[in-house]
Amino acid sequence: MASWVGSVMIFLAVVCLFLTTVEPKVRHYNFNVVMKNFTRLCGTKPIVTVNGMFPGPTLYAREDDTVIVKLVNNAPYNITIHWHGIRQLRSGWSDGPAYVTQCPIQTGQTYVYNFTITGQRGTLLWHAHITWLRATVHGAIVILPKHGVPYPFPKPDHEKIIVLGEWWKSDADAVMNQWMQTGLPPNVSDAHTINGFPGPVPNCTTSKGYTLHVESGKTYLIRLINAALNEDLFFKVAKHQFTVVEVDACYVKPFETDTMYIAPGQTTTALLTANQKVGKYMMAISPFMDTSVAVDNLTDISTVRYKNTKTYTPTTFSAVPAKNATPETFQFIDALKSLNSPKYPALVPLNIDHSLLFVVGVGVNPCATCSSGNRVVASINNVTFVMPTTPLLQAYYYNISGVFTDDFPGTPVMPYNYTGNVTTMNMQTKNGTRVYRLAYNSTVQVVLQGNAVVAPESHPIHLHGFNFFVVGKGSGNFDPVNDPNTFNLVDPVERNTLNVPTAGWAAIRFRADNPGVWFLHCHLEVHTTWGLKMAFLVENGEGPNESIMPPPKDLPTC
Ligand code: C2O
Repeated sequence: MASWVGSVMIFLAVVCLFLTTVEPKVRHYNFNVVMKNFTRLCGTKPIVTVNGMFPGPTLYAREDDTVIVKLVNNAPYNITIHWHGIRQLRSGWSDGPAYVTQCPIQTGQTYVYNFTITGQRGTLLWHAHITWLRATVHGAIVILPKHGVPYPFPKPDHEKIIVLGEWWKSDADAVMNQWMQTGLPPNVSDAHTINGFPGPVPNCTTSKGYTLHVESGKTYLIRLINAALNEDLFFKVAKHQFTVVEVDACYVKPFETDTMYIAPGQTTTALLTANQKVGKYMMAISPFMDTSVAVDNLTDISTVRYKNTKTYTPTTFSAVPAKNATPETFQFIDALKSLNSPKYPALVPLNIDHSLLFVVGVGVNPCATCSSGNRVVASINNVTFVMPTTPLLQAYYYNISGVFTDDFPGTPVMPYNYTGNVTTMNMQTKNGTRVYRLAYNSTVQVVLQGNAVVAPESHPIHLHGFNFFVVGKGSGNFDPVNDPNTFNLVDPVERNTLNVPTAGWAAIRFRADNPGVWFLHCHLEVHTTWGLKMAFLVENGEGPNESIMPPPKDLPTC
């Protein structure tokens, strides 16, 4: 009898030990926003940073952990931080876009972001979400699987984070203001960066490239993040292959590629094995743009260096992908499929409550105060979104009238041939602060249609608060009769930022199971600035965990 009791007690003790080690954690971070000068960037001014780092600190957590970030603003700019891709279930107050979910955190002020990571694992990014500060205020988010849960791919020997960025010699806010004054597009960046290193830059002797150190025979999990403001990028390492395993914190069916294509706001996690001769290999990023829109054409040249390398000349590749290599981007996008395993099923909504068509693109409006007499603008369904001065979420929660209307058009008010010859078209848009209202748990399909009115280009569209499934894509105008037959409703890629092809369309589906106000916008910051944005208002449900939580006490005021 005694020995029976003894073994039960030992058993219970082991269970207790097990439970205490696997319990989700609360992870605390301090984000001190400060100015800092970097000689490797050859800038003329210090840049805005978190903790004096560029890129900023990596946020590590496990699935189910709670993350608490205390932000103290010691920079002479208003700031907010967005945890890009974190679902923020019922915790919209911590989502971060200025004037959508919160007032900016002013100089000298503090705000505590507090959120729990539910049902997500992989690589994401955080970034400033006000004006153009995210140019330098960004960093990685790494969500590890729960304790004891393995990756659904071979375990890597090491993990490496690679953050891609874009950098301007003058401060990025001044660049943005160009549009305010002239009405014309602002300057393209002066360099691309890999983990904050621009590679060789003309007229800058202190600039250099980043070095990724590897060891022969080892496998690395590369967590690649495009934190650039305005440019889709190609990423390549000479002689090496990647096995892509996850995008936007969602596992995908593994596939091999020698070129990664990644748009601003997107993340791609891939295995790379150091299986070549010991030596140095060129690693580079270069821009993608398949129309005449201006881009920063500088290739950031960096190095992958094997341990014990004796040679000084790296192995290079003959050329980076052509700037207009549309087929390479499609090859990459089309290879992305949800893992859709029993453990990670693809729960694609099959019955749709709201079927929407959003036409996205650039327009031109007359502007009396602009030196050019016109202003380049951007819109969704011809609405150029105007940011309110009271955050939308606050206005909704406290019933403050006059901040927004909930009549955002779900389909174009005046349909036209979106990708045809529209040179005679009226390019003017209408200003508005309009949201689209959704009942809790309703299902939504949005066909994002790129137009060819002014400057057609590929738009990386990002939705806050949700992952969606990219069920289809095509060129030209979406055909509502035939194109749905081509949809993949079995294993479409799940993500938070999709690529809408130049003068083409892409369709997404999601379930509105997160109450709050959620921003949707082009992740090319220049287009967001011009008004290519809107918001979904998702009502509370009836159940106990189906309402937005009350706002925190320290929520900033405007
Ligand atoms: Cu990463 Cu609203 O953006």
